[in-house]
Amino acid sequence: MSGDLRELISAANRAFDQAKNLDDFKSARLAHLGEKSPIALANRELGKLAPKDRAARGQEINSVKSEITTLARTREEFLITERDNRILVEEQVDVTLPTRNSQRGGLHPLTILRDDICDLFIGLGYEVAEGPELESEWLNFDALNIPADHPARTMQDTFFIEPLSSKLVLRTHTSPVQVRTMLDRKPPIYVICPGRTFRSDELDATHTPVFNQVEGLVVDRKITMAHLKGTLDHFATTMFGDGITTRLRPSFFPFTEPSAEVDIRCFVCRGESDDCRTCKGEGWVEWGGCGMVNPKVLIACGVDVDEYSGFAFGMGLERTLMFRHGISDMREIVEGDVRFTAQFGVGR
Ligand code: PHE
Repeated sequence: MSGDLRELISAANRAFDQAKNLDDFKSARLAHLGEKSPIALANRELGKLAPKDRAARGQEINSVKSEITTLARTREEFLITERDNRILVEEQVDVTLPTRNSQRGGLHPLTILRDDICDLFIGLGYEVAEGPELESEWLNFDALNIPADHPARTMQDTFFIEPLSSKLVLRTHTSPVQVRTMLDRKPPIYVICPGRTFRSDELDATHTPVFNQVEGLVVDRKITMAHLKGTLDHFATTMFGDGITTRLRPSFFPFTEPSAEVDIRCFVCRGESDDCRTCKGEGWVEWGGCGMVNPKVLIACGVDVDEYSGFAFGMGLERTLMFRHGISDMREIVEGDVRFTAQFGVGR
């Protein structure tokens, strides 16, 4: 091989060696393999040679070029590996460093409780049904057999919507969702209806004008009060713990017949203390209302009462939360102070 060509190889090798990073290497490769590199020029000058010398010189040029190309590839691979290793070290993250202590948001405890209750009933084969908070007077009262002169209909308890001719109210309970459900689908019906409800009460330790209820409705063949009692007992023990069952106390609701108040075993003294402050020695605390759906309501909703019967129950969600967590003032639940809510569901 002629000396000038051998010199090209060592010049390229030196230049590649001197390139300490990929940028430098790029210019070195351009200088020694690019269109204006000595080897490219040598190739172009082949044409000026006498035809008999061309083939040998051409072969030499090709083998020099391929040698330089191999040198370039080796150096490039080395530089790439070196760069990757450097990045791994320089950009290393210490995953054990403590994080900045920023607070995550969380679901409100009422929301968590509502979801838990829905999950419980979904597990029993129920579906979740919902209705609007702005409800027609007919669905909130009339269809539920609440007569026009019932005290609950007066301005005192109900938020009526102006103009009064709109016949709209802020629903005072979740029971209109029962009616909507029965009008909407055929039995068998198994639904749980959580929702916000409204009554014109002052905010105090045990009342809030905006509160939440959860309503259960079952309409099927041969449904009896025993099914209602069993369902409520299961609901109560799941909410408040083993041994906390229910007691039904005769009562009255226009939309159920017979009707009962649902009490639960006092979750503080379990009925074993005469001077318990929670149940006042009663052994039971009131939780909600229930009953067998009044046939008048079933008929108003187009259900065949010869074939079907049903039960319904309704509880306050705030009250349930207070029982579960020993909250003595309902205002804590509605005021939105994160120091209160953070004790429950933050981060969930
Ligand atoms: N709707 C009733 C209330 O708000 C509760 C209830 C629901 C009673 C279902 C009986 C059956 O007080």
